[in-house]
Amino acid sequence: MAAERTLSIIKPDAVAKNVIGQIYARFEAAGLKIIAARMTHLSKNEAEQFYAVHKDRPFFKDLVDFMVSGPVMIQVLEGENAIAKNRELMGATDPKKAEKGTIRADFADSIDANAVHGSDAPEAATIEIACFFPALSIYSR
Ligand code: TYD
Repeated sequence: MAAERTLSIIKPDAVAKNVIGQIYARFEAAGLKIIAARMTHLSKNEAEQFYAVHKDRPFFKDLVDFMVSGPVMIQVLEGENAIAKNRELMGATDPKKAEKGTIRADFADSIDANAVHGSDAPEAATIEIACFFPALSIYSR
């Protein structure tokens, strides 16, 4: 199977906990390569655009406020079944329901501060990657 790409974000809560390296180690141990990465502090506009699919949900404002509360680490992961593999490593959206040993079970405090984002489908991955990384800044290997 051809290598697949997915967009991953280490959210402000996990950056503040200083666990970027521990999360990266999990990606690498699962065979996912980090082929682009950058730290940034999202603007309100960027966070609103990124989560636009949720704009009518009751949690939207809190989600945007949380995403702009501190710097985030954004990366493109590449590997076989990268989208599903990353979702598996992340665990369920609500850390209370996340399986033991997943990133959210180990590092997230609540459903709204849940440590990581990962694209949930190939179409979303393509759009999300293009939001943050020009093609020339992605180093497939
Ligand atoms: P969603 O895309 O459903 O989850 P996931 O991040 O696992 O793909 O939701 C996007 C984010 O919105 C989620 O990571 C945290 C936030 N959120 C809440 O704050 N409350 C909620 O009830 C839900 C469903 C999501």
